[in-house]
Amino acid sequence: MARKRQPKLVFDFIDGATGREVASQRNTARFDDIMLQPRVMAHVETRMITTRFLGRDYGLPFGIAPMGMCDLAWPGADRALAQSACDFNLPVCLSAAASSTIEEMRHWAGENSWFQLYVNGSIDEALVLVERARTAGYDTLVLTVDVPQVARRLRDLRNGFDMPFRLGISNFFDFALHPRWSLTTLWHGTPEPANIGKTFDRGASRAGADWYFLDRLRALWPGRLIVKGVTSEADAKRIQAAGADAIYVSNHGGRQLDSAPAAIDCLPRIRQALGPDFPLVFDSGLRSGEDIVKALALGADFVMLGRPMLFALGADGARGVNALIRGLGEEINVVLAQIGLNDLRQLSTEVINSHAEPICHAVEGPKPVHRSAQLKGTGS
Ligand code: FNR
Repeated sequence: MARKRQPKLVFDFIDGATGREVASQRNTARFDDIMLQPRVMAHVETRMITTRFLGRDYGLPFGIAPMGMCDLAWPGADRALAQSACDFNLPVCLSAAASSTIEEMRHWAGENSWFQLYVNGSIDEALVLVERARTAGYDTLVLTVDVPQVARRLRDLRNGFDMPFRLGISNFFDFALHPRWSLTTLWHGTPEPANIGKTFDRGASRAGADWYFLDRLRALWPGRLIVKGVTSEADAKRIQAAGADAIYVSNHGGRQLDSAPAAIDCLPRIRQALGPDFPLVFDSGLRSGEDIVKALALGADFVMLGRPMLFALGADGARGVNALIRGLGEEINVVLAQIGLNDLRQLSTEVINSHAEPICHAVEGPKPVHRSAQLKGTGS
């Protein structure tokens, strides 16, 4: 539905990835390779899918990944995502490249808002954003480190997509064929990067997010610090040692390196490298409640979804996002019953069917990680 309602240029910006889009396809294909083992005759009349993560209770085990320029998906997107995050009690992460300000998102989503930082331009500019986030009241900061340079995304190059975004004449027919999107966008005003507005250069290096910067950020950010875009065990260990509160395993939805491994293949290895207790967030390729259960079983404590949220918005605005979130929640709930569990905290690698080659190579070695053992508190 989103493909029909959004101009091709916008749909491709969201759906697209780098190179031949192999990494993006591999992310979802590898989830299909993983099988869950049905279990029968368990007492599963009641089930609990609320989740405690980094000291907070959430209504569901997933949240909304940071995405730049969400308002391109549909006008008012950030606000709609914030509203859904509050209604379902899940986190919504505002991107540094968002078209809403840090302060607006905090106002809309309150404690459900996280802020994601790029070191785009100078370190001082990045630290200004950090200070704005702190003043606005955010307590969770996500530092994205897998974009030292924005990758070439061929669909964007072909379509002439760029930022700042323009409703230009070269895409006239594309916009004319999608009048609802075009007129509403004209009415609301073309979205622009709201926090790094005038200085924003999409092609500029973001490599300022280095090890030195991480140490500096850790020293000055008093809240929770999550480092996003990690797929290597060695990097994960070093980030853990640098004092991050959580690591966000992700390959950016395949948008950065086309030869990157599927993010879900990296997750159990990173879990094994960091031990059972270190908090892990995961995204890249999640498309259903079953996928979410698989990621939690393979070592994630919490997961995020990117593109599905923007497609839901493009398809049916705020109603679409709510339908997606509700549907994912129902799927997770039903899947738990099928695999004989009452609570997400009981998930471990034991629910993965061992014939699911070859991901099982990664999960066979270590003792199963029982999330119930790692999670403190009741999870309400
Ligand atoms: C992203 N992503 C992203 N990540 C980030 O840290 N900062 C950002 O500004 C953006 N911007 C962005 C825009 C769009 C349109 C997309 C689709 C993605 C990556 C995002 O947070 C997440 O890692 C991936 O989207 C996860 O993969 P799935 O769920 O889309 O498969």
